[in-house]
This record gives sequence, C-alpha cells and structure tokens, in this order.
Amino acid sequence: MRVQIRAAFDTDMPAILDVVLSAFGNEQGQEIADLIIDLLKDRSAQPVISLVATANDRVVGHVLFTRTRLKQSLQIFSSAILAPLSVHANYQNQGIGGQLIRGGLNQLKAMGVGLVFVLGHPGYYPKYGFVPAGTRGFEAPYPIPPEHADAWMVQELQPGMIGSVLGQVECADTLNDPKHWRE
Ligand SMILES: CC(C)(COP(=O)(O)OP(=O)(O)OC[C@H]1O[C@@H](n2cnc3c(N)ncnc32)[C@H](O)[C@@H]1OP(=O)(O)O)[C@@H](O)C(=O)NCCC(=O)NCCS
Repeated sequence: MRVQIRAAFDTDMPAILDVVLSAFGNEQGQEIADLIIDLLKDRSAQPVISLVATANDRVVGHVLFTRTRLKQSLQIFSSAILAPLSVHANYQNQGIGGQLIRGGLNQLKAMGVGLVFVLGHPGYYPKYGFVPAGTRGFEAPYPIPPEHADAWMVQELQPGMIGSVLGQVECADTLNDPKHWRE
C-alpha cells in the first residue's frame, strides 16, 4: 500500500467527511465533520494546516491543526492545536495516524510554531512527543476533569518553550465552544 501525506484540497472534502464518519461513527462523526467545516471557514483559526493521507490515491485519513494563543501573554511565539485526527476504520493501526501527526508537526516547525496542544488519548499521543500540559502550566480553554487530566497534552517544537511560558490556552472561536471540551 502506497501511503502519502499531502495538503488537503477543497475537492477532498466529501472524502474527508467520509473518513470522519467511518472513524468516529455516524453520530459523533457528524459533529466532528461539522467542526472541520466550521474551522476551515473560521478566520480566527488561521493559519490552518489541513492534511490528508492517501492510500493508493484514496483519502483514508485527515488531520487539522489550527491556531491557538495563550491568554494574557505577549504572544511573541505562535502555537497551534491538533484537532481532529481521523483514520478510516479499514486503515487504522497501520501507522497512518502517526504519519499525519508527524507531517503536521514538521510543517508547524518549519513555520516557526513553538507549541502544539492536543486533547486526546493519553496512550496514543505521547508516542509522537506529547507530554501532559496541565503540570507544565498550560490550562485548557475549559477545565478538564482530574480523572482525564492526562488527556490535555503539549509538545514544544522549539527548545526551551515549555518552562518559559505558561497560561490558559485560547483556541479559534469555533473550538472555544464548551461542547468540544466535554468528555
Ligand atoms: C486514533 C487514530 C487517529 C489512530 O490512527 P491510526 O492510524 O489507527 O494509528 P497508528 O497506526 O498511527 O498507531 C497505532 C497505535 O496506536 C494505538 N492506538 C490507536 N488508537 C488508540 C487509542 N484510541 N488510544 C490509545 N492507543 C491507540 C494502537 O494500539 C497502536 O499501538 P502500537 O503502535 O503500540 O501497536 C484512529 O484509530 C482513529 O481515527 N480512531 C477513531 C477516531 C479517534 O479516536 N480520533 C482521535 C481523537 S483523539
């Protein structure tokens, strides 16, 4: 199987939505699909990195990174959040999610982004360099219940970022809706 990671085109949208429904199931999938559509239109989310994974030229995975900022910070660096990540059910556990994450992180690093956040599975994202964010002084936009504290994670893309800045993270308007921060 030939897997490639590339920037998503507008014409990939139906295939991306199909992947999301397959990955998350119909009910949650529709919510996530709407989130992607809204984030791509949201000017406060810019700059956006939207990548697809293709297997033999068919879209089988998608990841989105959007802008974040730290509240009450002078913001002399830029930061982003990874959300959402989806791999088609028939293509999971073959490293495609990992390739999408690495592809996005490489682009963010090249853009000079200093920090990347994610709210996700604490058994998955540490494989790709994420560490718990709360204990490093980064508060999520909405409180994360203590039993899920490890799901809120961060990764520095420039050395020395963690430890030199802290505060509450603010996402794009679309992602700042509390419904996206409930379990
Ligand atoms: C989670 C997801 C994106 C991972 O993509 P993938 O291409 O299947 O994952 P990869 O092949 O890169 O990595 C597979 C590894 O991650 C582990 N893994 C997969 N899903 C996991 C999960 N939900 N929690 C913990 N570990 C997970 C696998 O057990 C495997 O571990 P191994 O390498 O030790 O064998 C994909 O399974 C998916 O779309 N799931 C449904 C939607 C979802 O939960 N999205 C993420 C929201 S945080």
